[in-house]
Amino acid sequence: KDLTPIKDVYQNDFLIGNAVSAKEFEGTRLELLTMHHNVVTAENAMKPGYAYGTYPEFDFTAEDALVTDAHSAGLDMVGHVLVWHQQSEESLHTDANGDPLPREEALANLRNHVKTTVEHFGDRVISWDVVNEAMNDNPPNPSDWKASLRNSGWLKAIGTDYVKESFLAAKEALNGKDVKLYYNDYNDDNQNKAEAIYQMIKEINEEYKAENNGELLIDGMGMQAHYNLNTNPENVEKSLEKFTSVTSEVSVTELDVTAGSDNVLTEAQEVEQAYLYAQLFKLYKEYAGDIARVTFWGLNDATSWRAAQSPLLFDADLQAKEAYYAVIDPE
Ligand code: XIL
Repeated sequence: KDLTPIKDVYQNDFLIGNAVSAKEFEGTRLELLTMHHNVVTAENAMKPGYAYGTYPEFDFTAEDALVTDAHSAGLDMVGHVLVWHQQSEESLHTDANGDPLPREEALANLRNHVKTTVEHFGDRVISWDVVNEAMNDNPPNPSDWKASLRNSGWLKAIGTDYVKESFLAAKEALNGKDVKLYYNDYNDDNQNKAEAIYQMIKEINEEYKAENNGELLIDGMGMQAHYNLNTNPENVEKSLEKFTSVTSEVSVTELDVTAGSDNVLTEAQEVEQAYLYAQLFKLYKEYAGDIARVTFWGLNDATSWRAAQSPLLFDADLQAKEAYYAVIDPE
């Protein structure tokens, strides 16, 4: 209870976030959430698959309740996510036989999904992850970003311009509201993947800038940062260099560091994990001018999506781990 709030340590650097479900908003978990964080992301609730009651009828009841809970607790909200190949409504781009819809139909569905969702939440969110995980892992020829795109339902139905079209629809729906638009992806420390993403954002932003008085279409790059004990901070820094050169901000959107197995973390593993967290936060501090937010993907090990590998700052009993102490004092 006498812990230093993480958000206070980094108040002059970047926002501190966490991922939540509706059940986080009570008791000790809520205390921990509001003590250490400025902002939350819905771990699942705001994904495209949950935007509909019976497709194509939108139903944002649960999402609205979550946003209200967050705001009542004094936490800002990140929108996650509009366009993704997982946890999405297949009918948006695929017909009953499993074949891609005709391009114009899928494009109309994409625009309608993005427009309706973005307009619904308005400026109740500070940013949107507009497109999530569009890139293949470790693409062999990263200078050709179009050839490096994941063969998703959206790509099959629309083609490579579905990425730009998603951002254009979100930008239009915002109608000038100050909500940042992000591209978000994992394995962000892999240099081939980072290069392909860099090329994609660069091209899309350059095209848009030329027609819009230097304004960017993709404001930010979201580095998910699902790391492990083999992650090399030098690669993370190389990626930061790339991404900051083509966006106006970068955020660390889903940070966790797996270590151990079967819900057991040895003392040595806990120390090693803490050391990586320290190295990462030293790096993030160096890039504080470019980094808007650092979000952990879950409050504690027991409820993490990778619970078996104890990836977070607080243990199953919500007690601070070595990783927490590393984060509040990385030097
Ligand atoms: C994960 C959630 O944490 C899990 O609860 C869910 O079962 C699957 O999705 N990249 C993302 C996140 O962008 O939305 C994912 O979240 C983790 C990987």
